[in-house]
Amino acid sequence: MTFWRELGFGSNPYVVKPLPSNADGRELLVGRSAELRALLRRIEEGDTHVVLEGPNGVGKTSLVSVAAWVAGERFRKKETTHLYLPLPEVLQIKEDASEFISDCYFAIARAFLENEETLKRADRKVPRTRDVKSWLEAPVLRGRGLNISSPFGGGGITGGTAANSSTGFSNAGFRATIRSWLRDAFPEGTGGLIGVIDNLELLETSAAARRLLEEIRDPILQLSGMRWVLCGARGIARSVAATPRLNGVLSDPIEITPVADEFIPQLIETRLQHYSVKDTSKAPVSTSSFEHVYVITHKNLRDSLRHAQSFSQDNEAAFFLVKSESEIDLAFTTWLEGQAISHEASVKMQPRTWKLLEDLADFGGTCSPSDFDQFNFNDRAHMRKNVVELERYGLVNSSKDDDDQRRRSIEITSKGWLVHYAHSQGLGMPPIPGM
Ligand SMILES: Nc1ncnc2c1ncn2[C@@H]1O[C@H](COP(=O)(O)OP(=O)(O)OP(=O)(O)O)[C@@H](O)[C@H]1O
Ligand SMILES: [Mg+2]
Repeated sequence: MTFWRELGFGSNPYVVKPLPSNADGRELLVGRSAELRALLRRIEEGDTHVVLEGPNGVGKTSLVSVAAWVAGERFRKKETTHLYLPLPEVLQIKEDASEFISDCYFAIARAFLENEETLKRADRKVPRTRDVKSWLEAPVLRGRGLNISSPFGGGGITGGTAANSSTGFSNAGFRATIRSWLRDAFPEGTGGLIGVIDNLELLETSAAARRLLEEIRDPILQLSGMRWVLCGARGIARSVAATPRLNGVLSDPIEITPVADEFIPQLIETRLQHYSVKDTSKAPVSTSSFEHVYVITHKNLRDSLRHAQSFSQDNEAAFFLVKSESEIDLAFTTWLEGQAISHEASVKMQPRTWKLLEDLADFGGTCSPSDFDQFNFNDRAHMRKNVVELERYGLVNSSKDDDDQRRRSIEITSKGWLVHYAHSQGLGMPPIPGM
């Protein structure tokens, strides 16, 4: 029997992937009613694309994924005549605009191919997908000097000019076709496809993010029949949404703060119940232990789940079956301390840099380069030197050479919070004699 089965679960209850866009995802989403309503309102009633801003691992992607399903569910239940369908995948931002634009068009094409039946049932104009389908499935896809990676398994192909001759499509023809599908299936004010452009912070600098978004503004953000949701951390989404060329296109960001502490017991219990296949299932991490790790990770849900998963799998199922809850809780605390201590042991920094880590944690874990005086540095460069040192050990992330000095572009990482925990609690110190 597998580990999780022995404990009475169908599969790993601590999965760290974003929640799926289906009924399961809806059931598992806890503590987000207000955000869900706000997001749906903007998707369904706004005419700008939606921007979500929030720290890593708080649940941005999960929220959009569930919202897209809820929007579709309203149509299925005949509560609205607006039809919304999610794209089959979340789009990860990339520096190369033309590659990213290709990704978007492929995802839209796939959404149509996968939803033919739904569109028919909804009395929407269903496109003749056969030609595009065979073009997409052709083993060799040729773009005009573009590097196209086909989601149908065609692989990455560079260069070339001859489009698949059987259908006479070119890359431009393909895009024009997709645009007409969108216009026909989703006339103004009747819904659309919901696409997620995720992790804007991967673009490093606000300037790069702005440049990319300006490049995709006309080909992607102005596509009729598309509702885009852009997600970003470390202030980048806020920074790009405020530029003049984009502020008529993007909404003011919705700030996604961590799920409130009071919801954490319900969140984890809902999850355990959902995955449980036996009345007597035994959770490796109790509710109070999960609340504890949520505090240590600075309310990062993904990290909390990841630690719960690692702790579970570092032990035998029999351990959880025979030990009492308090013994398991103690084992979890000790395990977490051990993780923190081993990370701390690999960090060799000057006291001034340690002080910055502690002060930054007290400051909330994130700051902008212009906050240097708050940390008692005389100037930006001096603080930068210490930030670079913290970054060298993976304790903070920061954006380089950013032109938006007020952006909160410096943020403590998962490892940083663990090391902070060990350091501030003196966990790695030898015991004081006589204590
Ligand atoms: N409201 C919620 N209720 C229950 N589980 C949640 C909730 N929000 C997020 N999760 C879980 O937390 C983890 C992190 O969520 P998610 O990936 O959506 O965060 P994120 O903010 O998009 O992270 P990143 O910044 O890395 O993209 C996932 O395992 C997800 O299933
Ligand atoms: Mg995400």
